[in-house]
Amino acid sequence: MEKDVKEFLEATYYGNLSPSDQSKEMPSPSMINQPENIIESFKLPDPEKINLPEKNIINILEERRTRRAYSNALLNKNDLSLLLYYTQGIKKTLSDGRNMRTVPSAGARHPFETYFYLNKSKELPNGLYYYNPLEHEIFLINHQNLTEELIEGAIGQKFIKGAAAIFCWVANYYRTAWRYSERSFRYIHLDGGHICQNLYLIAEALNYGVCAIAAYDDKKMNKLLNLNSDDRFIAYMASLGGQKN
Ligand SMILES: Cc1cc2nc3c(=O)[nH]c(=O)nc-3n(C[C@H](O)[C@H](O)[C@H](O)COP(=O)(O)O)c2cc1C
Repeated sequence: MEKDVKEFLEATYYGNLSPSDQSKEMPSPSMINQPENIIESFKLPDPEKINLPEKNIINILEERRTRRAYSNALLNKNDLSLLLYYTQGIKKTLSDGRNMRTVPSAGARHPFETYFYLNKSKELPNGLYYYNPLEHEIFLINHQNLTEELIEGAIGQKFIKGAAAIFCWVANYYRTAWRYSERSFRYIHLDGGHICQNLYLIAEALNYGVCAIAAYDDKKMNKLLNLNSDDRFIAYMASLGGQKN
């Protein structure tokens, strides 16, 4: 095993962790980091009021696969609401302020924030958005055409040009590290896997296709998303578009 990997694993063994800020009774960090440059906000339809397709979970698991070729289907608000709700939506908030979401997360710290680029949309302007799960609303933060920058950010993976939306999941390291110190670097990536898997599954139910993307240029993507602290960084991406028959 490479020396760095061994060092990383050992540094994150439970016996080797620094005392967490939670154990030092430091206040818990905020569960969202709203961007400053909001151009417009849009409330999303209540997911409970949207008719869901009658699909069997076993069939969805059987049919799920990575899809990189997409139809011209436009993403509407109802489907976007479901995609965001089932990947990061809040089901209930506990008395200690933690929120329980549609995905699991170590210690319910939910360190991820969802940015997404709308490329083929029906009722919303195209552009880069941020999802606020607390209010189930989205903020348009950049209305420029960013397709070429996203392709470059995804190390030249051109198929994303045909996607209706490109999801960029940003990890807020301290949200998890507050409780788990160095162990968090393992947990956040496990949390991210749950989010993307839920996207695959809800997308399959709604006749969209997904491709998980982890081959990206960290610096370019962090710059594109205007992330300028070491604490917040791109940790996973996915393209999504209508399934081609
Ligand atoms: C962590 C992770 C990263 C991935 N990154 C990429 C990627 O950057 N580009 C891509 O085309 N596919 C990517 N994929 C998709 C895999 O290639 C795909 O899941 C694999 O070929 C198995 O196919 P299946 O998903 O249809 O079962 C990624 C998948 C995972 C789980």
